[in-house]
Amino acid sequence: MTHGFLGNRGSLMIDVVFVAMFLVLPVLYWSIFSVRSRSRYGFHKRLQVALGVVLLIAVSAFELEMRLVGWQHRAEPSPYWRAGGWNDLVDWSLAVHLTCAIPTFLVWIVVITQALRRFPRPAAPNHHSRHHRIWGWCATVGMTLTATTGWVFYWLAFVARSI
Ligand code: HEM
Repeated sequence: MTHGFLGNRGSLMIDVVFVAMFLVLPVLYWSIFSVRSRSRYGFHKRLQVALGVVLLIAVSAFELEMRLVGWQHRAEPSPYWRAGGWNDLVDWSLAVHLTCAIPTFLVWIVVITQALRRFPRPAAPNHHSRHHRIWGWCATVGMTLTATTGWVFYWLAFVARSI
């Protein structure tokens, strides 16, 4: 079992995803700024597709590790963890995180595939713009909530310890 590099109880994959979210959010907001204020449609397209691919690879590797190895044993020293499911803050924070993460994942897939199919090449505004702006902002808010709730879960499960 590989230990993470942050010096907490996270595994390597957990730490990678934790840190990756600190990079994903600024890149996402930079991408939106560049399309909104600078009309750099091609740049926005490349950044969003790259973000989508990186997130898909990271989340798949992460999910695989969670299914194969699990994370509960790493949360045991946390004062917010109790064995036996749904009776502690760690489990509830995970539930809140997944409530954000799962719909956000689906919305991202729809936003990217629809944008690739409906915008012209090179990318530029057209009849799909209105729909894309609405769902693009939903995807952005969803990713922001997914990251922040993920950080809270990480702290409760893998950083907090009894004094
Ligand atoms: C999950 C991925 C994506 C997200 C979260 C996203 C988000 C956004 C947001 C929030 C806006 C509106 C900015 C504003 O308020 O003016 C926007 C605009 C735009 N996006 Fe994306 N986008 C994504 C993927 C893509 C892709 C893959 C393409 C190209 C194929 C694309 C092309 C555009 C274009 C052309 C606009 C300008 C629309 C207009 O102002 O008329 N986007 N995007």
